[in-house]
Amino acid sequence: MASSKKTAIINVMEAAARKAARGLVRDFGEVEQLQVSKKGPADFVTAADIKAEEVLRRELGRARPRYGFLLEEAGAVAGDDEHNRWIVDPLDGTSNFLHGLPHFAISIAHEREGEILAGVVYEPVHDELFWAEKGIGAYVNDRRLRVSGRSALDQCLIATGLPYKGHDPEPKYFATLEAVLAQSAGVRRFGSAALDLAYVAAGRYDGFWEFGLSTWDIAAGIILVREAGGMISGIRANVDPLTSGDILAANGDVHVPLERLLRAALRS
Ligand code: 2AM
Ligand code: CA
Repeated sequence: MASSKKTAIINVMEAAARKAARGLVRDFGEVEQLQVSKKGPADFVTAADIKAEEVLRRELGRARPRYGFLLEEAGAVAGDDEHNRWIVDPLDGTSNFLHGLPHFAISIAHEREGEILAGVVYEPVHDELFWAEKGIGAYVNDRRLRVSGRSALDQCLIATGLPYKGHDPEPKYFATLEAVLAQSAGVRRFGSAALDLAYVAAGRYDGFWEFGLSTWDIAAGIILVREAGGMISGIRANVDPLTSGDILAANGDVHVPLERLLRAALRS
C-alpha cells in the first residue's frame, strides 16, 4: 500500500501536525460561536495560532532535537545541526479561520542545506494529509497524487492570492489577474497558499500564482507540486520562489503558457 512508503521523517511531521490540529479544530469550534460578538474572535485566534506553533515546535523538537526552525510566529531558531531545519506555518489561512470558514491548514517542511526534502500540509476539517518526499512521490492520505492533465489554458481553473491590507502589493497584480481571467476557465481565491499548492498537486487546480508570500506559506507546497509532477517557478526569470515569495505552480503543460501570460502582464 502507498502509505507503507511513509518514512520516519514523514511520520514525525504527520504526528506533530495531527497533534497541533486537535487544538486548532477545538478552537475553530469556539471561533464559530464567537462570530456574533462585537469585537470578534481576533485575540482568541492569535492565541490559537501561537498554541499550535508551540505544540509543533515541541513535537518536532522532541523527535529531532538538533534541528533548527523557521517558524511563522517565533521566527528563525538556530539548532545544533546547522544543516537541517523545520519550516513551520501553524495556521495557514488565518483569515478564513477567524471568519469561521473551514479552509485552513498546518504546513511543515524539512529543509536540508537550502533544499526542501519533505513536506506535509494537513487540512484537518476534511482530514486530508497531503505529504511528499523527494524521490518518493506526493500523496493525500494513502492516495498517490498527480497534477492535472489539462493542457488547454481555456479549460484550466487557476488559483491565486489577492493583495491584502498592510502588505506591500505587486503593482502589476491586477494586470496579471485580468490576463488570467481572460484566458482561463476561471480563477479562485480561497486564502490559503499552502492548500492552493496542495490542490495543484492533487489536480484540483491546474495552476496557482501569487506574489509576496513567505517561506513558511509555500515550502511544503513546493515539494508537493514537484513530486506530483508539476512545475514551480518564481514567475519572473531566474527568481527563487522560496526567497522572493513570488510563485507560479502548474502542471507541466500549462506552466509555460501561464508564465508567458504573467510576464507579459507584468511588462504591460
Ligand atoms: P496566513 O494565513 O498564515 O497569514 C493568502 O494570500 C496567503 O497570504 C495565506 O497563505 C496567508 O497566510 C497569507 N496572509 C498573510 N496575511 C494575510 C492577510 N491579512 N489576509 C490574507 N492572507 C494573508
Ligand atoms: Ca501562512
